[in-house]
Amino acid sequence: MDALIDIRDVKLTYETKGGRLPVLDGVDMRVPEGGFVAVVGPSGCGKSTLTRLIAGLLEPNAGEVWLHGERVTGPKSSVGMAFQNPVLLEWRSVLRNVTLPLELVAPRMPKREKDERARQLLALVGLEGFEDKRPSELSGGMRQRASLCRSLVHKPEVLILDEPFGALDAFTREDLWQTMQKVKSEEPFTGVMITHDLRESIFLADEVIVMSGRPAVTQYTMEIPWKGERDLDRLYTPEAIEMLGELRHQIQIAQGRSPREAGV
Ligand SMILES: Nc1ncnc2c1ncn2[C@@H]1O[C@H](COP(=O)(O)OP(=O)(O)OP(=O)(O)O)[C@@H](O)[C@H]1O
Ligand SMILES: [Mg+2]
Repeated sequence: MDALIDIRDVKLTYETKGGRLPVLDGVDMRVPEGGFVAVVGPSGCGKSTLTRLIAGLLEPNAGEVWLHGERVTGPKSSVGMAFQNPVLLEWRSVLRNVTLPLELVAPRMPKREKDERARQLLALVGLEGFEDKRPSELSGGMRQRASLCRSLVHKPEVLILDEPFGALDAFTREDLWQTMQKVKSEEPFTGVMITHDLRESIFLADEVIVMSGRPAVTQYTMEIPWKGERDLDRLYTPEAIEMLGELRHQIQIAQGRSPREAGV
């Protein structure tokens, strides 16, 4: 099997007090080792649900989720996750927040080694010198950088990012995109990123998947023809503008709106 993450015709229905809510109705996704896929789609279509299936926190009603040739049946330490609002523990220093996953998955690793690993990551994202601060002493962008370090500290094979930069202003977000590229080249992982930001999706990913409205299917897939690291100027090229136009069009279809109704 080629793909490190292999999702085949996955269906998921939530059973709630108010009744059944079909959310995913046949989602397919394949991410090769070292690949990075962005997922976009209307609000509430089931993107976070999809990340929970990959992380083994939920089981599909039908279809299959495979990681590295193994059927996912429960949570795995080889999967790291980062979210929109990083939950950092205020009673721990930045360094101790980053070492936390190691304390859980590698309790016998010497403390010096854990610290060294955390310090190396913090330096990579530009947080050298902030190791002993408390989370509340950091800006939102810095907290998100620390959270990224925490999700990578135990070298997960797979990194799932659910709107990681959604709460940040546009300039901070662009800085983080560049940091993310740097991290990706120094700390190889296979990534799935949920985002609402189409520019972010084409800047960071090798492939963008558009999910339809709920119950969601994989509606459209776009290969990003750029290899390796990119700079922000790429987003202003005619090629980028054309890709963004097509993705916007697909989102309108997913929302069930014609381009005219959407006013675009
Ligand atoms: N644990 C749950 N039990 C019941 N319904 C749920 C549960 N989690 C999510 N839902 C519902 O399933 C649908 C999909 O939710 P999900 O969070 O996956 O969407 P999303 O695409 O991530 O949305 P957003 O873009 O707003 O983050 C929503 O209607 C939501 O209310
Ligand atoms: Mg979500």
